[in-house]
Amino acid sequence: MPRCKEELPVGDLKSQVEEVRSSFEAAMASVNSTEALQELKVRYLGKKGTLTALLKSLGSLPAEDRPFAGEALNELRDELEQKFERKKLELAQAEDAAAEIEDRIDVTMPSRGRPAGAFHPVAQTMHEIVLIMQGMGYSVVLGPEIEEDYYNFECLNMPPWHPARDMQDTFYISDEILLRTHTSPTQTRVMEKMRPRLPVKVIVPGKVYRRDDDATHSPMFHQIEGLWVGEGIRFADLKGMLMLFAQRVFGDDVKVRYRPSYFPFTEPSAEMDASCFACKGAGCRVCKGTGWIEMLGCGMVHPNVLRMSGVDPKVYSGFAFGMGIERIAMQKYNIADMRLLYENDVKFLKQF
Ligand code: PHE
Repeated sequence: MPRCKEELPVGDLKSQVEEVRSSFEAAMASVNSTEALQELKVRYLGKKGTLTALLKSLGSLPAEDRPFAGEALNELRDELEQKFERKKLELAQAEDAAAEIEDRIDVTMPSRGRPAGAFHPVAQTMHEIVLIMQGMGYSVVLGPEIEEDYYNFECLNMPPWHPARDMQDTFYISDEILLRTHTSPTQTRVMEKMRPRLPVKVIVPGKVYRRDDDATHSPMFHQIEGLWVGEGIRFADLKGMLMLFAQRVFGDDVKVRYRPSYFPFTEPSAEMDASCFACKGAGCRVCKGTGWIEMLGCGMVHPNVLRMSGVDPKVYSGFAFGMGIERIAMQKYNIADMRLLYENDVKFLKQF
C-alpha cells in the first residue's frame, strides 16, 4: 500500500524540510543584491548546498519511503527556485532603476551655472550719474512717487491757475493726490526737513509720470534732481559744478552751453547742453546734426520756493537741476525709440 506523504515515516525528514524552508525564508529576507542572492542560491541549491545534501540522502531511506520523501524535497526545491527567480527579477529592476538615476545625475559634472542678470540701461545710467554726484559731495535722498498737488506744483511756484501746469499733465488719484510729474517736489520736502541744518546738497533719483506716450516720451520715466542750498551759493557755482559733471560723464574735452529757459521754480532758469560725445560737436545721428546733446534743466531756486519751504531767501540761496535719465541713456547707447527701454525684450537688453 503506498502511503501519502503526510504519513511519512521519516518524521525527521519532514521537520528538516520545514527547517530548511524557514531558514531559507529568513536568509532571503535580508538579501539586497544579486551577488548576495547568488550566494544564497549556492548555499541551498549548489553542489554542496543544504537542500542538495538532503536530496542526496534519499538513497539511504527505505525503498518504500523514497517516492514520498523525494516528492516533498522536489517540491521544496521547485519552491526555492521559484523564489530565487522572483527575487532575482526584483533586484535587477531595482538595480537598473538605481543605475539609471546615477547615469542621469553625474555629480562630478561642472554645473551649468546660472546666467547672470545685468542692470537695465536706464539703471546703469542712473547708477553712473549717482556715483559721479556722490563723488562731488551730494547725498542721495528719495521722495514719494505718489505726491501731493501741494509739493508737485503749489510749492514750486505753480498755483492752480498757472499755465505751466499744462505741460505736466499727470495721473490723478484724487484732486489733491497725483503721480509726481518730476523729482522737483523733493526740493521742498528736503528743505522743510533740513532747514535748521543748511547747507543741503542732495540728489534725488526716481521715477516720474506724465500723460505722454510716443517714441520719445513715456508715461513713466526717470529723473535725477539736484539741490544745493546754503549761504552765498551763486549761478557761477551751478555752472562750475555742471561743467565738472559733464566732464565726468563725457570726458575732459566736452563743451557745455546754456540756453535761457523758463521754470516757475527757478530764476534765472536755463537748459544745459553738452557737446556731442559721438561727433565732438560736428553734427551726427546721435545729436541729430546739431552737435549738442540736451542734458538738463536748471536754475537758481526761486525766492518764493525758498520762502514756501521755510528758508529765508535773504540769507540763503541755492540752485537746482533736473535731468531725464532715459534721454541720456538713449544718447549714450544710441537708442532711437524710448519704448524699447520698457518692452523687456532680452535680445535688446542684452546689448548693454
Ligand atoms: N523739474 C524740471 C522738469 O521736470 C527740471 C528742473 C529741475 C528744472 C530743477 C530746473 C530745476 O522739467
